[in-house]
Amino acid sequence: MPTYQLKVNGESKSVDVSEDTPLLWVLRDHLDLVGTKYGCGIAQCGACTVHLDGNAVRSCAMTASQAEGKSITTIEGLSEDGSHPVQEAWKEIDVPQCGYCQSGQIMTASAFLEKNPTPSENEIKSAMHGNICRCASYNRIYKAVETASK
Ligand code: FES
Repeated sequence: MPTYQLKVNGESKSVDVSEDTPLLWVLRDHLDLVGTKYGCGIAQCGACTVHLDGNAVRSCAMTASQAEGKSITTIEGLSEDGSHPVQEAWKEIDVPQCGYCQSGQIMTASAFLEKNPTPSENEIKSAMHGNICRCASYNRIYKAVETASK
């Protein structure tokens, strides 16, 4: 089995996984970073979103080899103590219902706001469009992204 060197949340990690193992399962099963969730496994729901060099990506749809040499950030590494502005806004607005999709939502929102710190309402909706929430907490999600942008 090949060994991959990954940089995850600022730390170097070595993992032995088959070539086709999705990054999602490397993070969850090999590195115990279970904040990244499995929803669909086919890049459709956004539950597995992490940052790769600052960009929001679907970790179910890429392999460890594709992430080698890049900086991976998971929800566990977004801030030391859950105090990233997006996380603070999430708490202020009390966004989650069941909570399952929320780490993916936060990772998408935080990457988006890094690139567009003062988005319009339509830009927020467009940016968050691909992250599915079965509890339909969308209005609170949009409000929290807007709050974090201020
Ligand atoms: Fe990756 Fe749904 S689990 S997009």
